[in-house]
Amino acid sequence: MGKVLSITEAVKALCNGQIVGLPTETVYGLGADASCESAVAEVFKAKNRPNFDPLIVHVPTLDAVREIAELSKAAEQLFLAFSPGPLTVVLPKKETIPDLVTSGHPTVAVRIPAHPVMLDVLHSSGLYIAAPSANPFGFTSPTSAQHVLDQLGAKISGVVDGGPCSVGIESTIVDMSVGIPKVLRLGGMALEQLEHVLGPLSTQLSSSNPNAPGMLSSHYNPGMPVQLFLDRDALLAALKMNGSKDIGVLYWGESIAHGSSFNLSEQCNDTEAASNLFKGLRLLGHSQVTQVYAHLLPESGLGRAVNDRLQRAANK
Ligand code: TXA
Ligand code: MG
Repeated sequence: MGKVLSITEAVKALCNGQIVGLPTETVYGLGADASCESAVAEVFKAKNRPNFDPLIVHVPTLDAVREIAELSKAAEQLFLAFSPGPLTVVLPKKETIPDLVTSGHPTVAVRIPAHPVMLDVLHSSGLYIAAPSANPFGFTSPTSAQHVLDQLGAKISGVVDGGPCSVGIESTIVDMSVGIPKVLRLGGMALEQLEHVLGPLSTQLSSSNPNAPGMLSSHYNPGMPVQLFLDRDALLAALKMNGSKDIGVLYWGESIAHGSSFNLSEQCNDTEAASNLFKGLRLLGHSQVTQVYAHLLPESGLGRAVNDRLQRAANK
């Protein structure tokens, strides 16, 4: 049964080929030594994740990125500008990373996380750590150690408690393995920030995108139907028509008087909303309600990533 581990215990477990929950600034990951195929296979099994969905490899430094991937000048600039941070870069992979990690793709997704505990684990172990989000496949990503234990406790050695995740939404993924940079997943690094360095970016987020097989259209399942509204006013109008106690409300702005509700950000701050999103989905999912009403945020900054996750949560 999984328990809370110290950093030393986690490093020992990882070096012994075991899998452990680890904090990052985005969401908690389920970590394994990326060079140990049996450990990586355990990660897929514990998450019930299809083998065709590749894992992100976490490393502590730019030098370590070079050990596992071919780093172009443009990709190097990107790392220098934004890492450590909530950014994952897809690059041509080197032999150091087993095919199992990348699901046979010739590329590897690499990230330098900005969490002191995760960086300590990476430095102390000397490992490259393959880590998907520490949730069963299809469910909401964990933003606390308790979430990890609740969802995967029985299947892992334990989790290191690094407190609640500050960003709270997964990393933004940019594919730099081909000529033109392409955004494969919206996330904790705003598109506007990336465009400062890379210029206008194209996005390819659809679930049918073979380059990011993990981006299935239905994900982040809170365990009940989610109905989306274009904005707060549309949600309020629907609530007025049908103010049933069975409905949970996920919103932002001035407080709404309704039984089960979760305010993502009273100040309408997109960064705060992103950091609260998964907690809100989880709380409503565990409450007495049978349905969730949520409204989209303006399409800018981290609002884009929040909307992306809400749309996936709403898909059946
Ligand atoms: O913030 C994050 O990125 C968290 C923390 C733990 O680092 N990790 C995370 O991992 O969200 P995961 O496995 O839940 O999502 C990884 C995504 C998947 O959609 C997968 O398809 C994509 O990254 N991916 C991984 N390797 C890839 C590759 N070589 N090419 C394209 N997409 C890739
Ligand atoms: Mg995930």
